This record gives sequence, structure tokens and C-alpha cells, in this order.
Amino acid sequence: MLKSKKVLVTAGPTREYLDDIRFIGNKSSGRQGAEIARCLLELDADVTLIIGPVNLELSSLGKVIQVETAIEMDYAVNEAGPFDIAICAAAVGDWRPKEKAKTKIKKTSKGKPPVLELVENPDILKNLCISENRPKLVIGFAAETDNLLANARSKLKNKGCDWIVANNVSAMSQNMGGEENEVIIVKRDQEIKLERQSKEAIAKLICKKIVDEISA
Ligand code: CTP
Repeated sequence: MLKSKKVLVTAGPTREYLDDIRFIGNKSSGRQGAEIARCLLELDADVTLIIGPVNLELSSLGKVIQVETAIEMDYAVNEAGPFDIAICAAAVGDWRPKEKAKTKIKKTSKGKPPVLELVENPDILKNLCISENRPKLVIGFAAETDNLLANARSKLKNKGCDWIVANNVSAMSQNMGGEENEVIIVKRDQEIKLERQSKEAIAKLICKKIVDEISA
């Protein structure tokens, strides 16, 4: 049904390195994005999954590009494009240490912890939306612990994407890193709530909406 459509899925966390062995990361398992990629493959799409470090079996997911950092993910997205459809499900680290230390950062005898200076990472989703070859349909996620709908709505506007999948990621929900999810697909003029269910089932419902949109 999505035959010959080139589709990008970003998924998983990124790691932003302080030195060779330490990084800033997040709880994303990559499962929701991987399930979306699997479902799109079953719909005959030409899928490229660009995914951060995860503990998932990726061999059945077609074209997979594994990355670690936000900078690597951004580069991989630009290299692999252009795409007809993009689904940005990755939990991209917003900041990286300004400089990665060349050798392991050591404790000092004075017990003073190092001060981390951070710089902002490229916004992969936003850049896709303003690119010359903008995909026809761009879907972002909004990972929120509070004010879910209001924050998702402002992301829809600020990022310039077509839909935002609003995702409650508070620790209590156990959605990020967990087996199940519950989301609201936010469009400019519509909100569609997908009740709590497996990430596979959520992926199927999102992909069904994508097929409906593309064939409309
Ligand atoms: N995203 C991205 N590149 C970034 C940051 C986010 O592509 N550097 C994408 C995510 O993949 C997601 C959307 O932007 O589709 C929203 O990500 P989220 O983490 O919810 O929000 P942020 O843009 O990081 O904003 P904030 O942290 O302020 O909520």
C-alpha cells in the first residue's frame, strides 16, 4: 500500500559523550519507532530506520542505520534522504557537552565535580521540515511529562510538521522504555486518542492513519 514510498523513521535515544566512556542519555528503548518501521515494511514501504543505541533485534527491519549521537543521527538523515514520509520518533538529546574530553575525566583531590558546559544539538525534525526536499508528510513525537496537549500543539507549530504524536513520558506512566504506550495524534484540526495498548498495536494504528493520509 505504500509501495515505492521512501520513508524515514528515527528511533531510540542518543548518547552525548563527556569523554570516551561517559555520556548523557535517556530512557528511550527505541521500541515504538522500531514497531512503526516494522509495520511500514509490511505495508511495502521503502523504509530507512535510523536508530540510536538500543537493545532490540534489528535484523528483520530492513535498512537500518545505527548511530550514537544526535550529530551522527542528523548526518545520517541528510545522507539517506530525501524521503516521501518522515516519522521522527527518536528521543534526541537536546544538548551535548561543548567539548568531549580527549582522555577520561578524573576526579580531583579537592572533591570538586567538573562543570559541564553544554551546547544545543541540531533539531533533526525541524531541519527536515524546512529543508528544500521536505517530505510530503512529516510526523514528530512530543515527549512530555506535563501539559501534554498544549506542549504538543506548540511543537506542531514550532517544528513545522504535519502531525505530532503526543506521548506522556512521566515516570509514573512507564511509557518511555516500557512495553505499552498511549498517545494522542495531534493534527492542526483534529486530535485522535489511541488508548493504552502494546507499542506494536499503537504502531499499526499510526501506520493506518498514514496510509489513509497518503491515499486521500
Ligand atoms: N527532535 C529532533 N531533534 C532534536 C530534538 C527533537 O529531531 N534535536 C524531534 C524528536 O524526534 C521528536 C520531536 O522533535 O519528534 C520532539 O522531541 P521532544 O524531545 O519531545 O522535544 P524537544 O524538541 O526536544 O523540545 P523539549 O525538550 O523542549 O520538549
